[in-house]
Amino acid sequence: MTGLTPNFEYVRSVVKNAAGISLDKGKDYLIENRLAPVASKHGFDSIPDLVQEMMDEGEGGTIERIVIDALTINETSFFRDQAVFDHLEQTVLPQIIKKNAGTKRLKIWSAACSTGQEIYSTAILLKERFPRLKDWHIGLHATDISDRVLEQARSGTYSEFELNRGISPALKEKYFNKVSEFDWQICEEIRQSVSFSRHNLVGAWNGLGMYDVILLRNVLIYFELPEKQLILSHARKHINEGGHLFLGASETTFNIDSNWVSEGTTSASFQVKGKEVRNIGI
Ligand SMILES: C[S@@+](CC[C@H](N)C(=O)[O-])C[C@H]1O[C@@H](n2cnc3c(N)ncnc32)[C@H](O)[C@@H]1O
Repeated sequence: MTGLTPNFEYVRSVVKNAAGISLDKGKDYLIENRLAPVASKHGFDSIPDLVQEMMDEGEGGTIERIVIDALTINETSFFRDQAVFDHLEQTVLPQIIKKNAGTKRLKIWSAACSTGQEIYSTAILLKERFPRLKDWHIGLHATDISDRVLEQARSGTYSEFELNRGISPALKEKYFNKVSEFDWQICEEIRQSVSFSRHNLVGAWNGLGMYDVILLRNVLIYFELPEKQLILSHARKHINEGGHLFLGASETTFNIDSNWVSEGTTSASFQVKGKEVRNIGI
């Protein structure tokens, strides 16, 4: 395996430069486990051959995109961290609904959406708990750097195992259709309510618009301080007055970007300093 080490160095630097993801030396097992099937799927005899092709193609090539895709960690589940969905339901959405009553618009973005469970959970929450938004213009957008996860997210198709992680039998019955022996697809109405696109959090933030809620959960952990700072400073510019940012349970803005105010809840939620809506009453 030592013969592969230089290739791993190169892979590490490409993944860091292109996607901001830090893979330290301790993650060599991950690189090897993830790239071996990719190499064979794309007709290479070995990981070094795959990496050589990536070098030959240069920055931004097809193999680079495939390699980055393979090295992302996509762990997610429906209604992951119930405290987040409780806080959304009980505080954040009622506040925003009151504030936006005039425009009847609500925009939510799941940045780093993985296979889509986060944004579909949000869509189901809106449908279940906020029927009064029937005549609102609701924009649900979700992005990720990985084409592979976006493909599954767009199709809204999940295994029994994936569904069992967060979807109750009642919700399964109501929102999912069995499409094969092992797979279930989210109903058309919910699927069509979400738009998906590829977006690199450490790339340019063009054409993203403004949001009332940004879900940026369980992704900052993969970045180092400068990338975290860059991403949080971009996020600030895309949050509406009174908007909210949700990070993962183990993530914070503290000591990274002082322009955020923690809501002090168990849901790792934050507002932009000076853009908070206080004492709105609900
Ligand atoms: C652990 S998942 C989190 C999924 C979901 N937000 C959640 O909390 O359940 C992290 C996701 O971040 C994505 N990701 C990693 N680096 C990224 C980048 N530079 N830009 C956009 N997405 C990225 C990965 O592809 C992966 O799907």
